[in-house]
Formats: sequence, C-alpha cells, structure tokens
Amino acid sequence: MVITRHDEARAVLADPRYVPPPVRQDAPPYTLGWLRAQVSRFSSSETHAERRRALEKRLAELDPAALRRRAREATLERAGDWKGVPTEVLAAALGVAVPVPLVEAAATGYLSGEETLEADAAVAELIALRGDGPQTITDLTLLLQAHAATEGLIANALTHADRTGTERTHDDQPGTERTHDDQAGIEGLLCETLRHDPPLKASRRVDRATGEEIVIDLVAANRDPAVFADPERFDPSRGENPHLTFGHGVRPCPAAAHALALATGVLDALRAAPDRSASPHEGDK
Ligand code: HEM
Repeated sequence: MVITRHDEARAVLADPRYVPPPVRQDAPPYTLGWLRAQVSRFSSSETHAERRRALEKRLAELDPAALRRRAREATLERAGDWKGVPTEVLAAALGVAVPVPLVEAAATGYLSGEETLEADAAVAELIALRGDGPQTITDLTLLLQAHAATEGLIANALTHADRTGTERTHDDQPGTERTHDDQAGIEGLLCETLRHDPPLKASRRVDRATGEEIVIDLVAANRDPAVFADPERFDPSRGENPHLTFGHGVRPCPAAAHALALATGVLDALRAAPDRSASPHEGDK
C-alpha cells in the first residue's frame, strides 16, 4: 500500500504496529549487513528504544550552533567546495576523524540495504579505524544517516535558490557576517526545500500483525492540499511548516536541528563564496 495523504502518513508513523522492514541478522561481522543489524534505524520495540536513547544522548553532546559555525568556516576555507563538509564537520564534532569517502561508500547501501563489496569494505575499514563497540556503532550510525540526506538537502536548496534567487544578494561580500534577515532567508529556503523537494522521498514500514508492506510517499504527503495551501508552489516565505521529511511519531529524525545547522552553515558560506559550485579537488575527496 502506498500512502500519500498527510494525516494517514502521520497515523502510520505514530503507530508502533508499523515497524521498519526487518533486516537480516546473519551477515558476517563488519559487513554492511552486520552494521544494519546493530543500529537503531532498523530495529523495533525495546531494542529500538534503547539504541535510540544512546543516539539522543550522543547528539545532546553536540552543539548545533557550533556545527553551523564550523560548516560555514570549512566551506569558506574551501572557496565554496562544500561537498563532504557536513560529514567532515560532524565527524570532527564526534571526535572521529574518519575519511569522508569511506563514510560515503558505506552510506550508499545503508538505507537501501544493497550490500556491495565496496560498502562491506568501507564498513570493515571504519570499524578497524574506530574499534568495535557500542560507541563506534552509535557514531557510525550518525555519520551514515547524516551523509546523503544532509548533502541532498543542500543540493536541492541550491537548485531552488538558483531558480528563485532567494539566497544571494548583489552586494554580498565574501566573509561578511549574516544579518537576521539573511538568516531567516536561509531558514525559509531550507524549510520549503524539505517540504517541496525532500532528500528522502519515501519511508517504508511493515505491519507487524499482517506483514503488509507500506510505502509512505513523502513528496505526496508534503504536498497534500488538505494541509498546504497552493502545495505545488515553492514558497520559501512559508517558513516552518508541518512537512514530514524528518519523520514523525515513534522514530522521527533525532538530529533535525543538527542537519539544519550543518546545511545553514554551508549555505551561509556559499552566499559569500565566489563560486558555490567550485570543486577543484573533486577527485581527492
Ligand atoms: C536533511 C537531513 C536529514 C533528513 C531529511 C533526515 C531524515 C530522517 C528520517 C525521516 C528519519 C526517520 C526514518 C524513519 O522513520 O523510518 C531519520 C532517522 C534518523 N536520522 Fe535523520 N535526517 C537527516 C539528517 C540527519 C543527521 C545530520 C543525522 C545525524 C547527525 C541524522 C541521524 C538520524 C538517525 C540516527 C536516525 C535513526 C533514528 C532511529 O533509529 O530512531 N539524520 N532521519
């Protein structure tokens, strides 16, 4: 069943009867399948609650304002070459100096479950760097969850900013500090990008009583005319809105503030950087 209405999506996400599709528990140690069997994201009931508490505790040690500042600085230092910045900044804040390409390789199949040799090798290398243990699993979960979603949000926001001219002004000076209005502009752009063009397009659940599979179409739910006026229109002035892109109910994203802080820092710097698409060291990352 595919759910497209906002109220039905919220109801499913809030009902503990619906759980993420179970993942296999028999994968060899230090492979992607093994990692997926250890994490909060794909577990349910008390196991999920316990693993989620560990994530929340770890996230509470991170200051979103510091993440934002650091993401801004790092993007400026690289003259706008922002790819990899959110993951690098998050890894540094967690105190785990792991190479971004390894995170990217492991993250590729993390949500989809596509177990490739590359992803398995990346997970093995990340565990070798950090050591096996609950803290490593918690930190890797955060990095793998964060990577593609946060970069996707920034990329989609930049596409909309280019189209609508919402982000840049003509008198921008590199390195200038952001005014209150600028800040509100970036926040509006991000909120509306999350609603209109989410980096994650769907969430999956299984009815634990019947085994029925449910796909929540986030794009459709975020454009439900019963909830959003003129839903097809991209309108950054909507500000905060009840989009479902960070989830809802039993297991919403525990790091929405961190994701927004990283994205805001990058966009803030790109507003001032000479060329936001500059990517001189593409092959090195
Ligand atoms: C724009 C960026 C992001 C989006 C759109 C996003 C969205 C989501 C969503 C929808 C879920 C719930 C999945 C479900 O209900 O099945 C989720 C879970 C999660 N997210 Fe995010 N996320 C983002 C960034 C981040 C970042 C930066 C972090 C870490 C710092 C993070 C950490 C997590 C974790 C650990 C979970 C699993 C929670 C659990 O198992 O209960 N996310 N995210």
